[in-house]
Amino acid sequence: MTGDERERTIEALFDEQRQFPPPSWFKEQALVTTEDIYKAADSDVEGWWAKQADSVVWRKRWEKVLDWSDPPFAKWFVGAKLNITESCLDRHVAEHPDRVAYYWEGEPGDTRTITYADLHAEVCQAANALVELGLTKGDRVAIYMGMVPELPIALLACARLGLVHSVVFGGFSADALADRIEDAQAKAVITCDGAWRAGSVIPLKDMADEAISRTSSVESVVVVRRCGNEVNMLEGRDHYWHDLVYRQPRSIDAVECDSEDLLYLLYTSGTTAKPKGIVHTIGGYLVGTSFTHRYVFDIHDDDVYWCTADIGWVTGHSYIVYAPLANGATSVIYEGVPQYPDKDRFWAIVERYKVTKLYTAPTAIRTFMKWGDEYPARHDLSSLKLLGTVGEPINPEAWMWYHEKIGGGRCPIVDTWWQTETGQILISPLPGVTTTKPGSATFPLPGIAADVVDEAGNSVPLGSGGYLVLKRPWPAMLRTIYGDPGRYVDTYWRRFSKPDEGKWVYFAGDGAKRDEDGYYWLLGRVDDVMNVSGHRISTLEVESALVDHPAVAEAAVVGRADERTGQAIAAFVTLKGGVSGDDQLITELREHVSNKIGKIARPASIVFTDELPKTRSGKIMRRLLRDISERRQLGDVTTLANADVVHEIAEQASNLSNSEE
Ligand code: WTA
Repeated sequence: MTGDERERTIEALFDEQRQFPPPSWFKEQALVTTEDIYKAADSDVEGWWAKQADSVVWRKRWEKVLDWSDPPFAKWFVGAKLNITESCLDRHVAEHPDRVAYYWEGEPGDTRTITYADLHAEVCQAANALVELGLTKGDRVAIYMGMVPELPIALLACARLGLVHSVVFGGFSADALADRIEDAQAKAVITCDGAWRAGSVIPLKDMADEAISRTSSVESVVVVRRCGNEVNMLEGRDHYWHDLVYRQPRSIDAVECDSEDLLYLLYTSGTTAKPKGIVHTIGGYLVGTSFTHRYVFDIHDDDVYWCTADIGWVTGHSYIVYAPLANGATSVIYEGVPQYPDKDRFWAIVERYKVTKLYTAPTAIRTFMKWGDEYPARHDLSSLKLLGTVGEPINPEAWMWYHEKIGGGRCPIVDTWWQTETGQILISPLPGVTTTKPGSATFPLPGIAADVVDEAGNSVPLGSGGYLVLKRPWPAMLRTIYGDPGRYVDTYWRRFSKPDEGKWVYFAGDGAKRDEDGYYWLLGRVDDVMNVSGHRISTLEVESALVDHPAVAEAAVVGRADERTGQAIAAFVTLKGGVSGDDQLITELREHVSNKIGKIARPASIVFTDELPKTRSGKIMRRLLRDISERRQLGDVTTLANADVVHEIAEQASNLSNSEE
């Protein structure tokens, strides 16, 4: 649906007021059932976070909950000492070693059941291996793997030693990996021979080799054998996981870290061509993620929780690895794609493991809708108690389908808004408290001060829209951009803060609207960031990948509305003199972007044009291109330096068929 349609739907919903109060059966067993928690948090927010911090393991408690004396650089649980793996592993091994931490299922159908005791032992072995490789606290480790059990184990092994992990999603290209290795100056890379994807093998090790050859910092590579595909092992540098890890001792003391030591870097697309390394630290992140996981998903000891994200994204970091383990939860991890071997794979998994809490993305839900009701209908989904979504706005139609066809009409839905930068969920229902409305993420969680403001930074009245901001720091917030604190300040804090008045306001980059009841409705990005299947991709990143091709003179990229993926990437390209654009070049350019960034960034459509529409100051008018891509009435073109070109492009684009397979 287009932005306009979404707006209309939202308007319609404002009138319709479809509402879903927490079902009474759910409320009876829920951890939180009244709004008192919001009041408690607001009356003494730091004291309240300190209380939440009691549920994790500290070696030394903090001197101060929050140091906000040098905004926007926050410190949480100042002076505290801990190792995050003691919250995630050791205490559970002491209390319930045989509880399952992960039910893992491989795409080909092989399975592994990993208890907390098993997980602890293998994390310690992996940590011992990293020590043998000479890594010490503060070193960066790049992780480029499929969704195998060794992936969370690798993260935790780093955390055990105070190493900083930088996970690069396995769908990114060698180029993208090289940039991230270089920016972080990673000393080691952990990868797999290959990753299963829809029955074929993605050659991760080959791509890692290519990436590493372009960087200078990597001293060792650890390779998990998963697919058995042939790989080159460089003597002295490369080690197989099974050779290196399994001969290690099954315990190792956790390295004591400061609350504000780095836990990880995670690169995300911004409004420039260069991805930014988002910095997360330990103490606040642990508190913020474990609190939100427990209360948003209403986690009990007997739950089987399944977050379908890839650990390569922040959702996997926070809500597959750190928070569920900190809460002693039992999770499912699935390696592959949802259509393998058939389109009912997710529902077979729900039935097999009796999943109670399912957390997935709107783009997946829309895909399941398109595949048809018969796939979930093949399976017994009666174990489900709660459903969650994340990554993009969920259209009310998809929300209703999820509610009825997956949740059997009985499960509350939590639509959770957050970002790589926020580390933890910030806007979401509390399922035992909040009356939901399909398509709305409802309200900021306890302790979170969100608002919707106009251009000038003033709160807009209920019933209107503007920019989503956060007016108070929260524990899992990013601390900075790695190596670029200036960019951190400029990107997130410059636009709406009033430093002279001591007001620091975080700008999320999202548009939002509040209805008359104060509900938040997220409206998508307001900057040059696209959201394709819930993945953030910068228009500039794709543009620079296109311009990198020898045939291309200039490129403009926009996200156009797409029914399934939310947005699809539409590219407009001017070619160098003498080059003519044909289908073969389109294929080549898409391949080129795939190689530069990754398959997820491949344009769905490419239009060749002699010129791009620009303002007199030379700025590409992306809004116009978006209108063209979505075949809307063209907006005002009189401020254009080259108005005619718009009509030419529009004509070309109207002959276009979506080239995405
Ligand atoms: C979007 C993913 C609407 C939003 C955790 C945000 C959402 C970006 C929602 C962050 C939601 C995420 N409703 N939009 N429930 N959740 N978004 O960093 O535009 O990959 O800024 O983090 O996704 O994407 P990221």
